[in-house]
Amino acid sequence: MAAPDEKILAELKKLRAEVNRHNRLYYVDDNPAISDAEYDRLFDRLLEIERQFPELVTPDSPSQRIGAPVSRKFAAVQHRVQMLSLQKVTSKEEFDQFDRRVREGLDASGEIEYITEPKLDGLAVELVYEQGLFVLGSTRGDGRTGENITVNLRTLRTIPLRLSEETAKRCPLLEVRGEVIMKKSAFAHLNDTLEADNLPPLANPRNAAAGSLRQLDSSVTASRPLMFYAYGISDTDLAYLDNQHTVMELLREEGFLINEFVTTATGVSESARAFEKLESAREQLDYEIDGMVVKVDRFNQQTILGQISRAPRWAVAWKFAAETAQTVVEEIEFSVGRTGVITPVARLEPVQVSGVHVSHATLHNADRMQDLDIRKGDTVTVRRAGDVIPEVVEVDKAKRPASTKAVKIPTECPSCRGSITRTENEAAHRCLNPACPAQLERRLFHFASKSGFDIEGLGGKLARQLIDEKLVRNPADLFFLTKEQLLPLDLMADKKAQNLLDAIDHSRATPLPRLIYALGIPGVGEAAAGLLAGQFETFERFENIPVEELTAVDGIGPTIAAGIGDFLANEGNQSMLKRMRKGGVQFPVFQSLAATGKLAGKTFVITGTLSQPRGYFKNLIEEHGGKVASAVSAKTDYLLNGADGGSKLAKARKLGTTIIDESGLQQLLNDTND
Ligand code: IVH
Repeated sequence: MAAPDEKILAELKKLRAEVNRHNRLYYVDDNPAISDAEYDRLFDRLLEIERQFPELVTPDSPSQRIGAPVSRKFAAVQHRVQMLSLQKVTSKEEFDQFDRRVREGLDASGEIEYITEPKLDGLAVELVYEQGLFVLGSTRGDGRTGENITVNLRTLRTIPLRLSEETAKRCPLLEVRGEVIMKKSAFAHLNDTLEADNLPPLANPRNAAAGSLRQLDSSVTASRPLMFYAYGISDTDLAYLDNQHTVMELLREEGFLINEFVTTATGVSESARAFEKLESAREQLDYEIDGMVVKVDRFNQQTILGQISRAPRWAVAWKFAAETAQTVVEEIEFSVGRTGVITPVARLEPVQVSGVHVSHATLHNADRMQDLDIRKGDTVTVRRAGDVIPEVVEVDKAKRPASTKAVKIPTECPSCRGSITRTENEAAHRCLNPACPAQLERRLFHFASKSGFDIEGLGGKLARQLIDEKLVRNPADLFFLTKEQLLPLDLMADKKAQNLLDAIDHSRATPLPRLIYALGIPGVGEAAAGLLAGQFETFERFENIPVEELTAVDGIGPTIAAGIGDFLANEGNQSMLKRMRKGGVQFPVFQSLAATGKLAGKTFVITGTLSQPRGYFKNLIEEHGGKVASAVSAKTDYLLNGADGGSKLAKARKLGTTIIDESGLQQLLNDTND
């Protein structure tokens, strides 16, 4: 085989730099500069050269991110510096005591400089860089020994494979620590695809992240949307850095993702304010956090304070109020989902879990139910994490009443009495009767939900009545309902019937993305429906597209594509769509927000302290078709500037970017000239 010539070497070098740059723009800065197709072209060319000259493949080549073949098990890794855990506090008073101990330990008279960071609920990992090259990645394990998951971690685009030359020179050995998480939206989407594939769903984003990282086949990890947030380095004796916040800045410059809520705080009062801010932003965040980590910022102070057993004296986890509660199981019930999947559910004596009333908790599937060995009458711990469905995490066997029996999945559907089957390799049990009233009810409920046809008043109870009375056999029947049919129903007065009919009438103009979502195609959640509408713009085009072309849509994998193909080929579904058209559903042409919104085509960067968390403004801008990037560049149209804007403000001034405050943004949104 011919040796690579100068030209190839130069091309390879350039390709790698380009791919790295676009990876960073896409995954870390959230500000892509080229289309996916252009990116693929660069990447494919890179693979082609490396295939031709395998001797040129280096461990930091971006091609190494796509996963390697199955290994049998993970090798053990000794952490050079122990990975510590954190002491906990759960109230302002306890945090006060922590701060007092810190001040005493330092003999300090003034307030302490802290850095506050969200406590991310994922999996802790360590990344070792030697001479700037990512050489080893491991799990935390017991703090001293973890597992070598380097190949898996290499698939994460948020992990730089090589650091800058300057940093490599200054710290020839750098150990970066942080948390691997899966976003809540990505988790929901992953579960949709698993379900469509007849695979068992994952319990929560944390488990999903952990399970995805510990895959023996790293191409599975590569297919999972994981992110790495860096939160520190292993050692504090880096002579030229003297506090945690400059370490975070350095890491950010090196291409690591640093959480948007990381901020410095002086003393107890500023830390408490940061805590409140984080707590109130929590529900809206697309990732799970279970508290705030407060660290003494200055490394020389950290060194003086030292550690007790496995936790540092200079840091603490300030946890949000408990998200678990104990209660008693009244009954184990079996619910039938939209696609016939039977899910065991524990009906509970109602209990408050972090301010929310919980009376049911999912047991996920038969395997999980059997693992827990949960029974009627058991005392259990329920957990509610963010907006995830409450789940039973533990059974207190010591409190189990005498003579209880283990529960089994029934053999007959609790709704239609049809038989329940479990195909091989499938965690789910299913009712296979497409006319099963419970399935129909769930489909109808989904169809009419806010993210679908948004038919107010069509809740679970009414859906059930419409089905029981045989007024509705599939969602299309809704568009043929008359007042005469509705009035005899339970609790249905003239006004209510009219409101429902008005809501149905209004829903005939449901925009295309919501319409596609409402159909309940396996695997097609809101995000996928949005992508499909954006790509095809009319339902006719979507309906007639060959399955092979569906997979060309960015974000639509083969499983979802096959699900769509099956759905559209099904005669029952075809006649439903026909009947929807006959019933006056408009199937409107989709005009993407990015083209029509008030902020269409505009790129924003957000900086400084604003009256609401940044996520709020990001949503607001995106809802109006704008884009939000993390760094100011020549492409930035507006800098949304809060109090104390730092380097971004300086950069925007230098580039002459338009700088606006919150009221300036409001003005842009109020402008009526478009
Ligand atoms: S610092 C001081 N910072 O919390 C050394 N840990 O109990 C301890 N965690 O397993 C780590 N977010 O995975 C630190 N911003 C953050 C964190 C964080 C989450 C986890 C970490 C560790 C556990 C410590």
